[in-house]
Amino acid sequence: MGRFVYAYFNAEFPNMTLNSDRFLADLHRLRQFGAAGVGKGVQRVAFSDADLAARDWLAERMAEIGLRPAFDAMGNLFGLSEEPGLLLGSHSDSQPEGGWLDGALGVISALEVVRAAREAGDRSLSLVSFQDEEGRYASLGGSRIWSGGQDLAEIDDNQATDGQRLRDARARLAPRPVEVIDAARFTGFLEMHIEQGPVLDQSGDKIGVVTAIVGFRELRATLTGQQNHAGTTPMALRRDAVQGFVAVAARLAEELKPLMDPATVFTIGHLSVAPNAASIVPGRASFSLQWRDADVQRLAAMEACIRRVLDDEASARGLELDVGPLESLEPVPMDDGLHALLKTAAEAVVPGQWRAMPSGAIHDASNVARRLPVAMLFVPSIGGISHDFAEDTDEADLVLGLQVLAKAVALKN
Ligand code: GLV
Ligand code: MN
Ligand code: MN
Repeated sequence: MGRFVYAYFNAEFPNMTLNSDRFLADLHRLRQFGAAGVGKGVQRVAFSDADLAARDWLAERMAEIGLRPAFDAMGNLFGLSEEPGLLLGSHSDSQPEGGWLDGALGVISALEVVRAAREAGDRSLSLVSFQDEEGRYASLGGSRIWSGGQDLAEIDDNQATDGQRLRDARARLAPRPVEVIDAARFTGFLEMHIEQGPVLDQSGDKIGVVTAIVGFRELRATLTGQQNHAGTTPMALRRDAVQGFVAVAARLAEELKPLMDPATVFTIGHLSVAPNAASIVPGRASFSLQWRDADVQRLAAMEACIRRVLDDEASARGLELDVGPLESLEPVPMDDGLHALLKTAAEAVVPGQWRAMPSGAIHDASNVARRLPVAMLFVPSIGGISHDFAEDTDEADLVLGLQVLAKAVALKN
């Protein structure tokens, strides 16, 4: 699709030439690790063979352009520059059934911008692919641990839905050396991402400059009843975990409604039933409860409602209730300076065809904000589809996003 030349304000590095063909080729190459499903689907969950192979491939690309690849104990992969400066990137793990752009776009656009900047003589930009953004073991796990949001020891026994523990998954990093990467070497973090929603696709805007990332809460609950024979156990004597789950889900659909506004979301996205057999009264139902909003008071009111309904239904039905720790991320505003830079860059690349907007998806930037000024930009998602094999964006829009990212970096430097 061509090349784009950006003038750096810094006279020492007069210009940077982006190569959009090279950028798109790398994006398609990354998709080959775990390519699955119809269209451009990907299955590259954290610490899978595909994920680790993709990280090794990325480490080679980093080394090729003179960055020093470095893993930390959580499997985050950094490409470190010689000089302090901006950190660019996102994540390269995927959902169990994911698309080719969620996370990957932020990593590969960062690779192209860092590469072009280095070719122009700038050795200040570093690159990152965070691990387990998609929460196989802990949501935004890699950036959470790196930013000091939690100690690794606190989540190391977390289990994926297949029962595998994080500590055993991390053992798969061997023999790659791991080290501690100090955030002090970076001056800020820019993350480009697909929108994963319908706003840009419907408005026709080419770029979203993120104002803030919503707050996030998640609980995992298990209802335990009495596993028994489905033919011989009278209805009145059953303690059926699935019936308990159904009652909880139905009540929450009604009782959360008055607490939510149109932007609030609530999802039960995971359910597992044990022993999951047609002729057995189910003994156990484990499920996730996740809700998001920009207002922390609303998030707290929803939590109270969810806990009350769980308690009520468990005790009314003689079920045991176990609720895991609350996972939470506070709403995060973007850094004023970096946000302004992205707006200036967007106006330069797509005049009048961009908008400022909040992010309903959570991102590694939410965690990185603990340590660094952060800002994000979005490109449109076709049909607003994401976390699905069908996720896609026009390649011309991907390249516009790349140009805005590069322009912002050029303006900053
Ligand atoms: C990130 O993938 C999210 O769930 O928002
Ligand atoms: Mn993502
Ligand atoms: Mn995602």
